[in-house]
This record gives sequence, C-alpha cells and structure tokens, in this order.
Amino acid sequence: MDHLIAACAFSEAERTAVYHAIETRRDVRDQFRSDPLPEDLVRRLLEAAHHAPSVGFMQPWNFIMIRQAETRERVWQAFSHANEEACLMFEGDRRAQYQRLKLEGIRKAPLSICITCDTKRGGPVVLGRTHNPATDVYSTVCAIQNLWLAARAEGVGVGWVSIFHEDAIKTILNIPEHVKIVAWLCVGYVDELYDMPELAVKGWRDRLPLDKLVFEEGWQDCEDM
Ligand SMILES: Cc1cc2nc3c(=O)[nH]c(=O)nc-3n(C[C@H](O)[C@H](O)[C@H](O)COP(=O)(O)O)c2cc1C
Repeated sequence: MDHLIAACAFSEAERTAVYHAIETRRDVRDQFRSDPLPEDLVRRLLEAAHHAPSVGFMQPWNFIMIRQAETRERVWQAFSHANEEACLMFEGDRRAQYQRLKLEGIRKAPLSICITCDTKRGGPVVLGRTHNPATDVYSTVCAIQNLWLAARAEGVGVGWVSIFHEDAIKTILNIPEHVKIVAWLCVGYVDELYDMPELAVKGWRDRLPLDKLVFEEGWQDCEDM
C-alpha cells in the first residue's frame, strides 16, 4: 500500500469556498458575541490547526485554552501595559491615531487560545530545521493560519494579539522557558466582519499592490513601502 491517492483539482464550488475563506478572513477585535462556542466546533478548529505543515513533521505547537474571565483579565492587564509602551513608540498624529485603535478582544471574546512553540520537541536535531532554527515558529504560524481560515468557514472570528511582554504571559500561564508564545488568539462567534482589513478602514495602512511585490528571477529595487 503506497498511500498515494488521486490529486485532482477541487470542484468549482469547492475552489470558490477556499478562496472565499481566504479573502474574507479578518482579524477581529470588537465584533465578538459572548455566547460560548460548542466543543465540537472548537475541536474542528484545533484539528485544522493540527493538520498544518511543520518542519520535519515536528508539530511543535500546543494550544492552551483559556475560558476563565479572571485569567483573561490578567492577560488584558499585561496587554494594556505593553500597549501604553507601544503607543509611545509612534510620534505626533500617528500616536493619536494609534491610541484610537482597538487592538484586542481579550475580555470580549469568550475563548482565548494561547498557541505556543515547543523548541525542544522532536529532539536536538530536527530534519529540515538543521540550518534555520526559526522554522519551528514558522510551522506554528502555519497552524494558526489553518485555524483562522477554518474559523472563518464556521462563522467564528479570530483576533491575534501580540502586544505583550512574552514573560508576563508565560508567568500567568506557567509556560516553561524553552516554549515560545507565538500567538494569543481571541475566538468567538461574529455576526459581522469588516470587508477589508480594519487597519485599512481606519486609515492606518492600505493593502500594497501585489504587482509591486512580485519580482522576476531575482531581487529588484523597489521604493520604500
Ligand atoms: C503575527 C501577527 C500579529 C498580530 N498582532 C496583532 C495585534 O497585536 N493586535 C491587532 O489588533 N492585530 C494584530 N494582528 C492582525 C493584523 O493587524 C491584521 O492581520 C492586518 O491588519 C490585516 O487585517 P486582516 O487580518 O483583517 O486581513 C496581527 C497579525 C499577525 C499576522
């Protein structure tokens, strides 16, 4: 048994669904409903994440599920502290604009998932990671994107929060030193989503033209973007 199966293209309806999920996936900060997600749905999201590619099939991820409001409150405090620091890194109008942005849904979303990368999983020498140790984190990000797209298909919003001191969250969740936090995801049902990135809607930054990002045969000079 060679395990090879037919690999024809998807039907048109299936292809449309895949591109629809990719194009309409959004980072959600504020549109979360408070009702809890059914366990079987959450399981499907985690299965989607767990089917991601990973370097040397390392599967370095863990999914820490946080439902308790108390824990989410402590994490929100850590966010809030870091966000004040972040704000000061911008100057003038940009700082004022930053202050008006909502950049998390930690308290509003009923579920948070802290997704980690265990840098020691699979032993000291992992196939494919021998010359680029960061590939373990890249793998974890693939899992996150799978979850994010599956969530879109399920009518569930996901918001990625990264504005923390990692050690503050590690202390709250008791995460060992060799394990990296890759994402804090806020997860919950949504009835509405922006039709383009919220940062574009709010005038922070626009989507770059794809044609300026595609080079032929080697690096090309490009203006600062
Ligand atoms: C690695 C990573 C970290 C992010 N961290 C944050 C964050 O801390 N707060 C936030 O509001 N959005 C965060 N985002 C979401 C981005 O702002 C968002 O993906 C981008 O503006 C494009 O919007 P879209 O995801 O709705 O298409 C993060 C996204 C990624 C991929």
